[in-house]
Amino acid sequence: MGNIILIGFMGCGKTTVGIKLSYRMRQPMLDTDKLIEKNEGRTISEIFETNGESYFRDLETECIKRLTETVNNNIISVGGGLPVREENHALLKKLGCVVYLRAKAETIYERVKHDTTRPLLQGDDPQQKIRELMGKRAGIYVRAADVIIDVDGKDFETIMDEIVMKCSGERSDD
Ligand code: S3P
Repeated sequence: MGNIILIGFMGCGKTTVGIKLSYRMRQPMLDTDKLIEKNEGRTISEIFETNGESYFRDLETECIKRLTETVNNNIISVGGGLPVREENHALLKKLGCVVYLRAKAETIYERVKHDTTRPLLQGDDPQQKIRELMGKRAGIYVRAADVIIDVDGKDFETIMDEIVMKCSGERSDD
């Protein structure tokens, strides 16, 4: 079926869905945040703190560019902000079937409220920050995606069934 790429807001379930899908499809799973951390030898928070967000965004573009040249039949989870750069959309589509896991702001907040690893949500009012970023990004995710899955209230089996079904349909329409 080619690669399946999971995009969406922080906390929408890309990593968990990716791991489960990787077991189900018997395909390796990759995660751009993890690849970047490994390559740089430091955490995302350290990269943001020392070099700033735009440096991190350059690393993201480099990372998926490399993936388009090297991987096939993988499940790939990408950082929530990666699709914000329009130049990355063509790279995502070249990589395979792009799946947007769409979740409501309340769902996201419940999942990330105790998280300390996401620099963009560390301010005084993460709930407001989520709403603000989501407002800016919702349309971007839709444009970058081949298929959209609404995840609120769905169990993982249902989400995975939808991904497999919709991505197979995408390929046969090619
Ligand atoms: C970010 C999302 C994070 C990570 C970084 C920035 C974003 O990845 O890349 O903290 O801008 O949405 P996850 O979506 O995996 O949390």
